[in-house]
Amino acid sequence: MASFNCNLKGKVALVTGGSRGIGRAIAVRLAEAGADVAINYLRHRAAAEETVKLIEAKGARALAIRANVGEPDNIPRMIDEIKNQFGRLDILVSNAASGVLKPAMELNEKHWHWTMDINAGTLLPLSQHAVPLMGQDGGYIIAVSSLGSIRAIPNYAAVGASKAALESLVRHLALELAPYKVSVNAVSAGVVDTDALKHFPNRDEMLTAAREKTPTGRLTTPDDVADAVLFLCSSLAKQIQGQTIVVDGGYSIRG
Ligand SMILES: NC(=O)c1ccc[n+]([C@@H]2O[C@H](COP(=O)([O-])OP(=O)(O)OC[C@H]3O[C@@H](n4cnc5c(N)ncnc54)[C@H](OP(=O)(O)O)[C@@H]3O)[C@@H](O)[C@H]2O)c1
Repeated sequence: MASFNCNLKGKVALVTGGSRGIGRAIAVRLAEAGADVAINYLRHRAAAEETVKLIEAKGARALAIRANVGEPDNIPRMIDEIKNQFGRLDILVSNAASGVLKPAMELNEKHWHWTMDINAGTLLPLSQHAVPLMGQDGGYIIAVSSLGSIRAIPNYAAVGASKAALESLVRHLALELAPYKVSVNAVSAGVVDTDALKHFPNRDEMLTAAREKTPTGRLTTPDDVADAVLFLCSSLAKQIQGQTIVVDGGYSIRG
């Protein structure tokens, strides 16, 4: 009988946007399982330093890399830093996201490209540079998505479209990278009360609706998302390829 085996000792992970929120929970969960973890961040250095300490407290090595993942030139530099520091990469979690939250009719070209470049445009160059660093045993690529990819949410047109593109890319990468033993999946989270929600004009309304409509009776937490990521890096998930796993306490199944 298969048992849960997720000993990541000797493995190296990169979590983009790993300094705060969901990314931090994923970084710490992977470190708990034994992986050394590089986190990437953009603006908040103190948060990144705090996460480095949390990773090190789990007995793992940590590295914080400042880079805007929406600028493709930064990607090879980031992967090179990991190669120099750790010499390998086994797990890539593409979690960093940004985006303009406005009604579709108020979005301009700059808003659209900013959102698409960071949320949808990053996974491809990240994978292209990360996979060569993954050894003959392959590795794991996990993208963090949201329910806006499959549902219509007020003020979410640009981000929702970017996440739909992201999930499609996950399927195509999964198809092409399976022969190299690289599993590629996405984890799509329900409403999680992180700093990201402060940018929503209707934050309070969203949180109330999520609390009321989630069948499990509580909001999804960063740890819930991190658990699913860890599962996808485990031996039990070896036949899961190209999927988007929804972690939302059943919020999205409700009629
Ligand atoms: N919160 C939710 O309800 C929810 C629901 C579903 C899915 N998600 C997804 O979960 C992921 C994480 O969201 P979160 O709520 O944890 O967000 P968050 O708390 O706002 O954290 C965002 C993280 O991404 C980093 N970041 C932002 N833009 C970046 C860029 N251009 N380059 C590099 N790093 C960048 C931030 O670093 P700095 O602090 O240094 O800027 C921070 O570490 C995203 O993909 C989001 O779409 C969130």
